[in-house]
Amino acid sequence: MALDEFVAELNELADTAAESFSQAADATSLESLRVKILGAKSGQLKSAQQGLGRMDSADKPLAGKHFNQTKKRVEAAYQAAKTRLRAASSTQAASSFDATEPGCRPRIGHLHPITQTIQELKDIFGRLGFSVAEGPEIEDERHNFDALNIDRSHPARDPLDNFYLHASSDGIATDGENNMEVALESPWLLRSQTSTVQIRVMEENPPPIRIVSLGRVYRPDTADATHYPMFHQIEGLLVDTDVTLADLKTVLRIFCSSYLGEDVSVRFRPSFFPFTEPSVEVDMQWGDGWVEMGGAGMVDPNVFRAVGYDPEQVTGFAFGLGVERLCARRFGITDIREFFKNDIRFLKQF
Ligand code: PHE
Repeated sequence: MALDEFVAELNELADTAAESFSQAADATSLESLRVKILGAKSGQLKSAQQGLGRMDSADKPLAGKHFNQTKKRVEAAYQAAKTRLRAASSTQAASSFDATEPGCRPRIGHLHPITQTIQELKDIFGRLGFSVAEGPEIEDERHNFDALNIDRSHPARDPLDNFYLHASSDGIATDGENNMEVALESPWLLRSQTSTVQIRVMEENPPPIRIVSLGRVYRPDTADATHYPMFHQIEGLLVDTDVTLADLKTVLRIFCSSYLGEDVSVRFRPSFFPFTEPSVEVDMQWGDGWVEMGGAGMVDPNVFRAVGYDPEQVTGFAFGLGVERLCARRFGITDIREFFKNDIRFLKQF
């Protein structure tokens, strides 16, 4: 076969192929065109390639080059058709959007179980006549220890048992996050108990007092099923004339039956706290056993003296209970770390 004849044949093949590809109306007809023209076994290009073998050997290089160009052109026309049809089918999908179909409901969030518990505890104590007081989470040693009758040598002040904020030797602490310098009369720490708020309230107000305070406290404990380095406490303080331990026990019993139910018993065990005398530990029933919910007692006269109250005139009781433990007891949660994992599967149950 002569070279120019071969070239003319290829050009014609390419022209008609490009024309047909550009007119293919859908994916199925495009595919049958592809088989007809580009098919590896018996496509038109394949048979044209066989013509190469019958060329004079002098013409072969040029003919081969021409064949390759033709093949590229045809393939490009095929790709263009494919892209065109794909674009068309996605606009079609968009136009089939149906605004009347029911949509996916967005998940509505809710308050964290600890926040819910805090609100409920405030409600219960509110009905018992207690108002809500607040205090700072960063405290000085006076409110966290001294005024609570925890003297300088008491092990509760051990730096290893508290989160002291870094203080430099000149009495200046740096607040790492805000890069601020704050002057200190005494070192500051993250409060280790909400009993700090008892002191703040009595410093500011004359008796009688009837408050609860709820908030975060911090202790460098290793996290396990019953401990976490940050947790919440509810502190209660009642100061008046002739307050007795019987009043304390009654208030805690009423509280326990409102929050956990009539059938849950409370147990008081003799204990010691520097700021109460006598002191008790408060346990609540859980299955066949008991869980410790916190401590309580009659306000120590030294605490009254520290805030300028006359212990001959007033008496009072105080208690501090763990909010996570109360909530865990109510819902049968055996690991308090669940509260802080932010696992939506856990949280959405509340
Ligand atoms: N502050 C004590 C604690 O954190 C609890 C407590 C509060 C005990 C009030 C007695 C009176 O363990």
